[in-house]
Amino acid sequence: MSQAQIIDGKAIAGSVRQEITDRAARLLETSGTRPGLAVVLVGADPASEVYVRNKDRAAEACGFHSLKHTLPADTDEADVLALVETLNNDPDIHGILVQLPLPAHIDESKVLRLIRPEKDVDGFHPVNVGLLTSGDRKNALVPCTPAGSLVLLKRTLGDTLSGLNAVVVGRSNIVGKPMASLLLQESCTVTIAHSRTRDLPAVVRAADIVVAAVGRPEMVRGDWIKPGATVIDVGINRTPAPELGDGKTRLVGDVAFKEAAAHAGAITPVPGGVGPMTIAMLMVNTLTAARRLNNLPDEEALF
Ligand code: GUN
Repeated sequence: MSQAQIIDGKAIAGSVRQEITDRAARLLETSGTRPGLAVVLVGADPASEVYVRNKDRAAEACGFHSLKHTLPADTDEADVLALVETLNNDPDIHGILVQLPLPAHIDESKVLRLIRPEKDVDGFHPVNVGLLTSGDRKNALVPCTPAGSLVLLKRTLGDTLSGLNAVVVGRSNIVGKPMASLLLQESCTVTIAHSRTRDLPAVVRAADIVVAAVGRPEMVRGDWIKPGATVIDVGINRTPAPELGDGKTRLVGDVAFKEAAAHAGAITPVPGGVGPMTIAMLMVNTLTAARRLNNLPDEEALF
């Protein structure tokens, strides 16, 4: 059986970040504006700490002004809201990202709804959700992981996805739902599958494009993949790997990679696929936000 093309998310993310670095330098030169990103982390979840550190580093590498606020896990909701309000009013900050999940005593929806939609570089505010679902992408900020997945699809299949059958496995607000909206906007025929879907293998077998975002290690099997399909694996799951030694773990996606690579036309690896794209698209959104807040037109879209 033929082997799939491996989609190099790390390389594509690198080219996106380089483009944003160049655009940010031109913006600074022509308007004196340096894009500013503020990342807020409440608590000390180790995975979140890694993400937040990577976001902070990427912003600095792009020449952005980067602020990181780390608050203790027992911070009052009112204090988180007050910090968001301060950042909303800070003219040097164009993007605000509150790392999720928040501790249980904080109302996540309340925090996300307080972020100024123009600074909502995660695209989670109801205004941005509404703009995306109503097809008004040019005024929306689009969630980073779905946006990055769309970049990978277009770099693999070309700019026209029209008429393709796309199956999104997973219905989260962070990935599944916005991914489905983006693919619909690209004129795909979109199915959202989830834990209650009947005969999931049969649904996935109809897909020219599979986006797996369920958070269950290697759930999508190789024989579910239509020959030649493009597979985007959003999952990042840490699983025990006794073959590497006692107590060792490794990262796997939501797709059984080796099996699926024998059927797919192209597939993203984990790690090195969607992961690096998420951070690259956060840089894209921060630059977009900085331009819009300065009443400058958008530059050529990267997706
Ligand atoms: N937690 C997991 N993914 C994300 C994301 O894309 N943005 C934020 N803010 N938190 C997350």
